[in-house]
Amino acid sequence: MNTTELESHLISIRRHLHQYPELSNEEFETTKSIKKWLQDEEIDIRKTGLSTGVVAEIKGANPGPIVAIRADIDALPIVEQTGLPYASKVKGKMHACGHDFHTAAAIGASYLLKETQAEMNGTVRIIFQPAEESGGGAQKVINDGQLEGVVAIIGLHNKPDLPVGTIGLKDGPLMAAVDRFHIVLYGKGSHAAIPQHGKDPILAAGHLITALQSVVSRNVSPLQSAVLSVTKIVGGSTWNVIPDDIILEGTVRTFDNMVRADVKAKFYTIVESIATAFSHEVKIGWFPGPPPLDNHKSVTEIARYAAKKHSLKVIDPEPSMAGEDFSYYLYNVPGTFAFFGTNGNEEWHHPAFTLDESAIIRAAYFLYESSRELLNRPVTSL
Ligand code: NI
Repeated sequence: MNTTELESHLISIRRHLHQYPELSNEEFETTKSIKKWLQDEEIDIRKTGLSTGVVAEIKGANPGPIVAIRADIDALPIVEQTGLPYASKVKGKMHACGHDFHTAAAIGASYLLKETQAEMNGTVRIIFQPAEESGGGAQKVINDGQLEGVVAIIGLHNKPDLPVGTIGLKDGPLMAAVDRFHIVLYGKGSHAAIPQHGKDPILAAGHLITALQSVVSRNVSPLQSAVLSVTKIVGGSTWNVIPDDIILEGTVRTFDNMVRADVKAKFYTIVESIATAFSHEVKIGWFPGPPPLDNHKSVTEIARYAAKKHSLKVIDPEPSMAGEDFSYYLYNVPGTFAFFGTNGNEEWHHPAFTLDESAIIRAAYFLYESSRELLNRPVTSL
């Protein structure tokens, strides 16, 4: 396959995935398709205990380390509104985060590696990870032993606000830790005109929402980053009844594990204290998501070199408060995660999210070149 043929093949792969999106942990057809595309080029598939997702491997002719490339493969429960000729054929499901792009690029990298297998020193393992959006895909892959022997890992995410040809590479924190909370305030219902006989959870919730905004503004250093958002309130049934209870939900995002722990502690103090002040019982649910995504310095430097070799413009990207479960891999092996320019018209998770497909082949070459460099320049020697 020459470069032009490879590019049009990767675009057709991406369009196929785009038309048939599957949600986290339901990527059965996606898994079958990825296996077929890899086996078409006689690429080895590793045995796994995963019900969805694929791990492929290309062993070089010469001995050397194992490095990994990771792509995610799942879609979102969103009704697509792009109007594209290859828009989703599955109502209510959409590749609105561009994981179809990541998958196509990683298949492209696999093809390029396969062609140069005879000159390779070591092995490249390509992880097509399920359930990035929800469902603990990265942990499943790690618990299944797929990182065993891996000395370094790379991954990327498309970035709609960066032009094609640009790549964001940064050592240190790039994406945030994700925590979710769920609060139930138990008051006591009463007639709206006789509040002294009840305990009004709506009033308590009002105070609580206001007080929670002090967690970041009065407790986190202005030189650190954190955000706390209350995003859902459920309570009450009509205009003249004070309800028994009220539910609040929201999320906290942080870049630093110390800040993350401090915010959680202060959150609990405020919620419990406000509940006590208003004579309410309270139940707090705290659901920790991925840790902060912290890129390794030497691997990032190798990725910069690889990017420049393929004429990508390397920039220092602004970190994102969004989360990404690639961070779990980085807790196990050194690696780096790149933001790849795709010149989209909307942000991730938007129903009209698009990307410029000319970035796919560039991403394939970047992943290929980075993994080859990582084989030849062991991370520990830097
Ligand atoms: Ni994503």
